[in-house]
Amino acid sequence: MTAAAPTDGGLVDRYGRVARDLRVSLTDKCNLRCTYCMPAEGLPWLAGPQLLTDDEIVRLVGVAVRLLGVTEVRFTGGEPLIRPGLAGIVAAVAALEPRPRISLTTNGLGLDRLAPALRAAGLDRVNVSLDTLDAARFARLTRRDRLADVLAGLAGAAAAGLTPIKINSVLMRGVNDDEAPALLRFALAHGYELRFIEQMPLDAQHGWDRAAMVTAEEILAALRTGFDLAPDPAERGAAPAETWLVDGGPARVGVIGTVTRPFCGDCDRTRLTADGQVRACLFATEESDLRGALRGGADDAELARRWRAATWGKRAGHGIDDPAFLQPARPMSAIGG
Ligand code: 5AD
Ligand code: SF4
Repeated sequence: MTAAAPTDGGLVDRYGRVARDLRVSLTDKCNLRCTYCMPAEGLPWLAGPQLLTDDEIVRLVGVAVRLLGVTEVRFTGGEPLIRPGLAGIVAAVAALEPRPRISLTTNGLGLDRLAPALRAAGLDRVNVSLDTLDAARFARLTRRDRLADVLAGLAGAAAAGLTPIKINSVLMRGVNDDEAPALLRFALAHGYELRFIEQMPLDAQHGWDRAAMVTAEEILAALRTGFDLAPDPAERGAAPAETWLVDGGPARVGVIGTVTRPFCGDCDRTRLTADGQVRACLFATEESDLRGALRGGADDAELARRWRAATWGKRAGHGIDDPAFLQPARPMSAIGG
C-alpha cells in the first residue's frame, strides 16, 4: 500500500475503497422542518456568495465524472427542488461524457409540477422522503401540513417516468414506529421501493439518542407482522440498504442500518456540499475546500488532485459506537443524504 494519495485515476482511499457515487447538495434550505433534522425556526442558512453557482457545480461534477471515475450523481439538499437552476444543472450533467446516472433525493414538495421538466433534462429517477401516511402526524413530524403535496409529487414522478421511485422512511419511537407495515402496503400498491433508514446522529439540535432509535432489527420484526420477508438473492454491492423480497417477490423492501449494521467497508460515496466542500463521509469532521481552489483559479487537474487527497484520508468507519465519537458540525440538511 502506498503512503500517499495517487496522483491520477479515481477516488481511492487507503482502505482500497473506490468512490463512484457522488452526492451533491444544492442548497441547505428546506421547505419542511422535520423534527429529526432541524429546529422549527430553521437554521442559519449559507449566504448567497458562499453557495456554488450553477456553473461551478457543473464544473466540479464534470471533474468528478471525467477525471475521477464518478458514474452516479445524486442531487440532494436541504431540498434540491427549491434550487432555481436545478433543471439546467441536470441537463448540463446529463451532457457530460461519459454520461453519469442522475438521481435526486427530495421531500417531494412541488415534484408533481417539476417532474416532466426534470425528466426532459435527463434526470433518471428520484428518492422521495415520506415517514408517515397520516396527515396529522405528517404535520407534527415535518411541522408543515403538506402530506397531500408529497403524495401528489410521488404520483407526478411516476407519471413522468422517474422510475424506479424509492421512498425513504425514518421511524421514530412513539411517533410513527407503528407505521412500518402501512408504509410498505402503500409502497407495494404503487410500485414504489421502500427503504427504512435508522435515525442517525446528524440532527442540527444534537438530540439524537441511541437508546431511543428504532433499530433495523425492530423494523424487520414490525414488517414481519404483516409480510413474509426473504433475503434478496441480488448482489448488494455498495448499496447501503439490505433488501428483502416481500411475500416471495419480486417486490422488495430495504433497511439501511447505518448504526446497528454499518456498511462503511463497502462505501463508494463522496460528497460535495452546497458551499463547495468535499466530504469523504457523512460523519467526516474534515472537509476539503474546492470552492476556494476553484475561485482561486485552480485548473481541473488541480481540483481532481485535491478531491483525491480528500478521499485518501477517509476514515475506515463512522465510529458512532466509539466513546470518542463526535457528531459532525454540519447537520444532515447541509451535507445531503
Ligand atoms: N437520520 C436518518 N435519516 C435522516 N434523514 C434526514 N435526517 C436524518 C437522520 N438524522 C433522511 C431524510 C431523507 C434522507 C435524505 O435522509 O428523511 O429521506
Ligand atoms: Fe427538509 Fe429533509 Fe430535513 Fe425534512 S429531513 S427538514 S425534508 S432536509
